[in-house]
Amino acid sequence: MLQQKIEALKASFQQSLTEARLAEGAKKAEALAQLKSAFLGKNGGFTELMKSMKDVPAAEKPAAGKLLNTVKQELEAALKAEEEAFAAAKRAEALAKDKIDITLPAKKPALGSLHPLTLVREKILQAFLGLGFEVYDGPEIETEYHSFEALNIPADHPARDMQDTFYMADGIVLRPHTSPAQIRAMQQKGVPIRILCPGRVFRADDDATHSPMFHQIEGLAVEKNLSLADLKGILEVFAKTVFTPDTKVRFRPSFFPFTEPSVEVDVSCSMCGGKGCRLCKGTGWIEILGAGIVNRHVLENCGVDPDQYRGFAFGLGVERITMIKYGLPDMRLLFENDVRFLEQFR
Ligand code: DAH
Repeated sequence: MLQQKIEALKASFQQSLTEARLAEGAKKAEALAQLKSAFLGKNGGFTELMKSMKDVPAAEKPAAGKLLNTVKQELEAALKAEEEAFAAAKRAEALAKDKIDITLPAKKPALGSLHPLTLVREKILQAFLGLGFEVYDGPEIETEYHSFEALNIPADHPARDMQDTFYMADGIVLRPHTSPAQIRAMQQKGVPIRILCPGRVFRADDDATHSPMFHQIEGLAVEKNLSLADLKGILEVFAKTVFTPDTKVRFRPSFFPFTEPSVEVDVSCSMCGGKGCRLCKGTGWIEILGAGIVNRHVLENCGVDPDQYRGFAFGLGVERITMIKYGLPDMRLLFENDVRFLEQFR
């Protein structure tokens, strides 16, 4: 009697399993879950049969129980196999859908690049910072006093010309050079001192080699016994760092109100190595900056005793050095921000 019921249940289970097997996707998952609860769950067909064991005559009990268990295990195994096959198929389907074609060229992120003026400024700072200089920041809106008087530039000097300097108000200008930072640094920090002041400067000037706003770096070192030889040594390190390691430096006599003596500094042409070319206009040399021994009046204006201390100063234009370094024909390229130009410095 029980045996027949077991066989019937088994047949019914197999029928349902075959049906579930034909279902797809979510329907199949549902069918399998239903199957499990209908046959093997708490109120399922099998549990019912288990309960009816108590009515089986004692002599038949062992055989009936054994059969019940075997069949139960059989069904559980069949169900488990089907569930596993279903999970595997689902996984395979997901993997196929998410397949990544690793032979496809990757999308590169658009990389930016530092502006050539930034590159060159950093390179210059790096050369001097290695020599014990520190960066000192000065204001872009300056007093006439710091820009001119304190630097020994007399009132009738052409550097004061209204046509060059932007006057903001009485006694206030947009700094036309970074030299006023010398004055502020000495007044603030005293001597000995080694500073560099990079920054923007402003002049009423606009053509292929001049811009109303450009960048300078001012250098100042004041100690007990500095000489033009020290200046030359330091500028050689700078020139070799910024241009090529075989760059040579030469001094030519010049004049600036804030230095005495003053020099104009040339470097050997990095394009032709000194033989003469378009860049150096056939001379083999290119002028890169102005420098000199700090004028004693300037030291006095900063409360420094010129009989105790001596120093050198220099001032360079970052645009000019950038144009020389990269052979740029027009300064305006540096301000137009055309990405086709800027990309070349990546
Ligand atoms: N201030 C000068 C200029 O703007 C550059 C300069 C020349 C700075 C000689 C100096 C120096 O410190 O010693 O053209």
